[in-house]
Amino acid sequence: MDSSIDLLRIFSEVGGPSGYESRVREIVVSKFIPIARSVETDQMGSVIANLGGLEGSPKVMISAHMDEVGLMVKNVTEEGYIKFQQLGGWLDQAIVNQRWVILNDKKDVFGVTGIKTVHVMSPEERKKIFDAKELFIDVGAPTKEYVENELGISPGDPIVPFSPFSVLNDGELLLGKAWDDRAGLALMIKVVQEIESSKSDKVNLLFAVATVQEEVGLRGATTSSYMVNPDIGINLEAGVAGDFPGITTDESQERIGMGPTIFLHDSSMIPNIKLRDFVKDVAQKKGIPLQFNVLTGYGQDGSALQRSREGTPTINIAIPTRYLHSHNSVISYKDFEQAVSLVRSLVEGLDSKTVEYIKKF
Ligand code: CO
Repeated sequence: MDSSIDLLRIFSEVGGPSGYESRVREIVVSKFIPIARSVETDQMGSVIANLGGLEGSPKVMISAHMDEVGLMVKNVTEEGYIKFQQLGGWLDQAIVNQRWVILNDKKDVFGVTGIKTVHVMSPEERKKIFDAKELFIDVGAPTKEYVENELGISPGDPIVPFSPFSVLNDGELLLGKAWDDRAGLALMIKVVQEIESSKSDKVNLLFAVATVQEEVGLRGATTSSYMVNPDIGINLEAGVAGDFPGITTDESQERIGMGPTIFLHDSSMIPNIKLRDFVKDVAQKKGIPLQFNVLTGYGQDGSALQRSREGTPTINIAIPTRYLHSHNSVISYKDFEQAVSLVRSLVEGLDSKTVEYIKKF
């Protein structure tokens, strides 16, 4: 079984923006192969692992998305600068003056979103917010021909933040890119690894699904949940920590280090009430701290799962995350470990009787 830190580091650092998840998928498949009965992909590229279980019992689907927010090459200027399309929701300000890697079949290419220096700016210009349309990536190449022929870069090549994994405060907090949703993905892998190595009897049929293209509209969750057709859905995400200067509890109520969070509301979903109460009960019985968040914005894969076919009772469980959708996000190791215990206990508690109760209105 992998250590949590190893899983988190590997998944944070691997590059895979929406639509270009192949490197992430390769790792996910390699983790599922030794423990799953079957590992399949749907026709969009989401990975579906059938972990087996009790014959004739309900299907439980846990899911997490593989993609991260990134960019893709749009065109190359005559001077050899890369213009790009954003993949997923970026603040323009988070793109400026950062390091990037262009993922390319030939070789990975480093670059920087250059910024005009303060020395040449008027006082008015200094106050101006950068417009993403003016941004470009400098890969150090002299001409368009060099970029295309020597570096092998062409329109459509995916681009991801360059941001090595680091630990803060002796490993209490973990700093890296892509915690949305690689924290959820590592959580899902860790949960199924623990369940499989415990060798305890399963009470349901377990499916673990790593989805594609969440950041551009929950696209992989739509097709993969149709394929699995589950009775219960548990989606795993990066939450929104509201615990640093400049963010208010009105905007977000969860805090880092205070345990996993359930979303009671986001712009895409209201969870099934009985499933919500089941999660609360399990957390209380196991002594796992649980937080609640009522968000105005945010959309997540759970909502696609919830609305698949004739509907599925679904909940979204999140690991509180600071500064998501940027090069540098922060999570707590303790929250991660508590989320592992919580999700594992949920899966182990969803027997036929409980699922039947949750599904009934
Ligand atoms: Co996400």
